[in-house]
Formats: sequence, C-alpha cells, structure tokens
Amino acid sequence: MPSGNKITIGTLRTRKREQRKISMLTCYDYATARLMEEAGIDSLLVGDTYAEVCLGHSTTLPMTLDHMVTLAEAVRRGSPSCYLVGDMPYLSYQVCPQDAIRNAGLFMAKAGCDCVKVEVDRRLVKTVEAMATATIPVMAHLGLKPQSIQTVGGYKVQGKRAPDALRIIEDAKMMEEAGAIALLLEAVPTEVAAIITESTELPVIGIVSGPHCDGQVVVQHDMLGYGGGHPPRSVKQYANLHDLLVEAFRAFAKDVVESGFPTDQHSVAMDPAEYDELRRALAMKTGHVKPSRK
Ligand code: KIV
Repeated sequence: MPSGNKITIGTLRTRKREQRKISMLTCYDYATARLMEEAGIDSLLVGDTYAEVCLGHSTTLPMTLDHMVTLAEAVRRGSPSCYLVGDMPYLSYQVCPQDAIRNAGLFMAKAGCDCVKVEVDRRLVKTVEAMATATIPVMAHLGLKPQSIQTVGGYKVQGKRAPDALRIIEDAKMMEEAGAIALLLEAVPTEVAAIITESTELPVIGIVSGPHCDGQVVVQHDMLGYGGGHPPRSVKQYANLHDLLVEAFRAFAKDVVESGFPTDQHSVAMDPAEYDELRRALAMKTGHVKPSRK
C-alpha cells in the first residue's frame, strides 16, 4: 500500500510545474536503497550500468532480464517510497512490442517498479505506444543510448550538429505523443536538453546534459568515488569511497595477521559447566584431558 510519502509520477509532474528539481541515483541493492531513501533521494534507477560498475563488463549488453528484475525487487524492498525506475536490458524490448510489454510487466508486477526505462528513438515509437496502451509507464531514454554502443561507435555526446539535435528533439516529441510518461536525456548538449525540457509537459531527467533538465541522474559509483579510475569530468564527486574502503580493508588484513581480530570480545564462549562436561567426555574417549579455560 503506498504510504503518504510515496513519490509517484504525480509528484514528479508537480515538481516540474513548480520548478523544483528531481534527484535520481542509480541503485542496485537493498542496503544502498535504504540509505538513499533515508537521504531523501526522489528516484532510484535500477540501471543496467550494474553490468559495468558491479560486474566489471565493458558495456551494459550482458545484463539479463531476470538479473535486472531481481535487483529491482531488492531495491524496492529497501526503498518503499522512492520513485523506482526499472531499466529494461538489451533485447528485452527491441525485438517486438509483445516482448516489451511482457518483460516490462515483470518490472512492474514482480518488482514493484513505478515505471520502466527503454533506450529509444523514432524507430521504436510503435513499441512505446503499445507499452503505453498496455498500461506500462515508460521513461524514454534518448540521446546517447549505451545499448546501441556497438552501432554508435563509442560513448559520445549526441546532437552536437544541428540536424542531429533536431532529430533528438523530434524523437522526444514523438515519445511524448506515443504515451511515454517521462524522458531521460543522456549526453546531449545543454541547449538541446533545455529546448526539450521547455517544450514538454513530461518530467525530463538528464545525465551529462547540462543544468536545465527537471532532474538529474548520476551513476552512484561515480559520485561516490567508488570503482576504478577517475570519475568523468561531468560528474561531481561527493565522497571518496575508494580511499575509505581500501583503508578499511587494509586495517582488517593487518588486524587478522597481527591477531587483533577476532578477540574474545568478538567470539562466543561455552558455558563453563558445559565446557567442563565436554572436557570430561573427551577425556573418557581419548584419555587426554583438555586444559581448563582461563
Ligand atoms: O543504466 C543506467 O545506469 C543508465 C544511466 C546511465 C542513465 O541508464
């Protein structure tokens, strides 16, 4: 049962109308979902970037539907109130509208997502229309589409040239007309994001698309400084978990090697009478008496 604080698409629409920005982070597990909910993040995206940041793949393509739905279920358990977006993985919606509807249904009915996200352009307008008709709330992801990386040829800003920008702006309009309930713009120039955001009623979430979108999503590992290498220039880092965690792991390893952990404080002792009985039983069996406990 949604609580009074549940963030819905209605909340996001109001936020757009009132020009109050929407915060969104990627989230892939129960414990982090709890923290994000406690911190007041508006929306959590169970993104297929999990393949890269958690599984170590170089693209998002290896994510499977079952795996994504399992992650979404865990995130929902940790966060009953945030607006939960399930990212449909590669080939779970591109093959045909029937697949798209059935697979989206798992995110909605099994995992309890509030909407699903699909990476689209005008060629998938019929799919988005079919999903909307089937009561699937769709967030249309436009601009850079990581699932198409092999055809695009790299992670590049999209719409830098006027004809390409116009095409993305038209695609956004088509998605709105097809029944999408929100848009996500990835790696489009600031001006393009501003034009789309101003010209639609839909909440528009941006990533690497400038400050004019209605909301902002970031991959959590990037903003936390968690994972390999330097964060991209487009990301503001809010913590340095890399250093914090390496420090903790190093301290643990040192403790174990130097017998600083575990100590009696971290261990469970037998009741003295039980231990005496055990010693007697062992002595009867082996003839060897264990030392009494200090
Ligand atoms: O999967 C994901 O994390 C995403 C974001 C990059 C928007 O789609």
